[in-house]
Amino acid sequence: MHKLGIVRVLLIGTGGREHALALAFAQDPSVDELICAPGNPGMGAIAKLRNVVADDPAAVCELAVDTRADLVVVGPEAPLVAGVADALRDQGIACFGPSAAAARIEGSKDYAKDVMRAAGVATAASVTCHSQAEAEAALDRFGPPHVVKDDGLAAGKGVIVTSDREAALAHVAAVLSGNDDRAVVVEEFLEGPEASLFVIADGDDAVPLLPAQDFKRVANNDEGPNTGGMGAYAPLPWVDEDFVDTVMESVARPTLAELRRRGTPFNGVLYCGLAVTRQGPKVIEFNCRFGDPETQAVLALLETPLAGLLHAAATHELGNVEPLRWRPGCAVNVVVASQGYPAAPVTGQRIHGADLDGVLHAGTTLAADGSLRASGGRVLNCVAAGETLAKARENAYKLVSNITLEGCHYRDDIAADAAGRPDDAS
Ligand code: AMP
Ligand code: GLY
Repeated sequence: MHKLGIVRVLLIGTGGREHALALAFAQDPSVDELICAPGNPGMGAIAKLRNVVADDPAAVCELAVDTRADLVVVGPEAPLVAGVADALRDQGIACFGPSAAAARIEGSKDYAKDVMRAAGVATAASVTCHSQAEAEAALDRFGPPHVVKDDGLAAGKGVIVTSDREAALAHVAAVLSGNDDRAVVVEEFLEGPEASLFVIADGDDAVPLLPAQDFKRVANNDEGPNTGGMGAYAPLPWVDEDFVDTVMESVARPTLAELRRRGTPFNGVLYCGLAVTRQGPKVIEFNCRFGDPETQAVLALLETPLAGLLHAAATHELGNVEPLRWRPGCAVNVVVASQGYPAAPVTGQRIHGADLDGVLHAGTTLAADGSLRASGGRVLNCVAAGETLAKARENAYKLVSNITLEGCHYRDDIAADAAGRPDDAS
């Protein structure tokens, strides 16, 4: 097994994903000290919090030196795209997270398509467009439903999927307006349920976590606008037994090999966002970091100590790691969002009931009077495990029912279809 030289872990980020990572580190016997920056009040209960401008490589390096961190784990994509991992590695600090060059796999959808073409990875056919006229021609080529994506990072707001051609064109105009460098990717609509597979990579070796599913739309039955994610569950009872192997061999390994061939090996988590089509899994998107809210469900089932695993990846030792161990059963995460999310989240409302085990903080803050308040769109994550998906759902919704937050909303149907399957005993 990989020898742990870890004592202090510095975790960068503030969301529900980071709270889940922090919990896993806090439970890892090899971690003596956990520092989260900037963190959130939930993370503050299990770690030291420090302030940092997460997108500033020099500031993160300074903090890593100051805290004598043995391992830095970067949660969100923006610091990675800004070169935080490069700066840390330049100083000889072990970092879990890809270089800016490798993070382009998420930072530019056009670049991701180019990598996939070169690697022979199945994905939606697409055209990268720099003008309204090019986009109109591409929309006509693929027909409805239309899929239009901002080429660059857009914090989950860059994609529109619609059968309304005018709405698709309005999105094109909004993305292209005011900046000559901007581009949109117009692509073929992929038919089939979605799955997320997180692949831990050290530049050469790669280890998959359990597959999960995310619920992107704001309302029940996948209605309403896309969000950052309203809930998730893991594992997926409806995929074939060889699903993970298929994705590793047909998607993850060829993509990682192509990035290595380009001189930009990927060290971190390659998030494979997939549509499971009749022809097999096809890539909807890659991200260069853990998914939120899927990570919260996946990590609830991971028994292998997380810091050791990520340290092995950061130090090119993944080949020496023993097979991952998972708790039996399933996990469900239900997101509690503030009033008005995603269009115009109302913040500042008081929160009660967030202190139970399994309630992870995402958009919360402590007010001057010590009360917990909503500070973002996705406020809390209610995460629970169970022998079956049905039981995990029941446990997660019990946590939800304990929460009071004026005007909040959540979906009632997270994992409902999968839990209703006759084989829900996995
Ligand atoms: P993305 O930001 O690329 O993950 O896109 C957000 C969401 O839009 C995805 O989770 C899918 O639900 C949907 N989507 C994106 N691309 C496609 C596609 N080619 N076909 C069908 N749905 C898509
Ligand atoms: N769950 C979607 C994302 O993290 O991008």
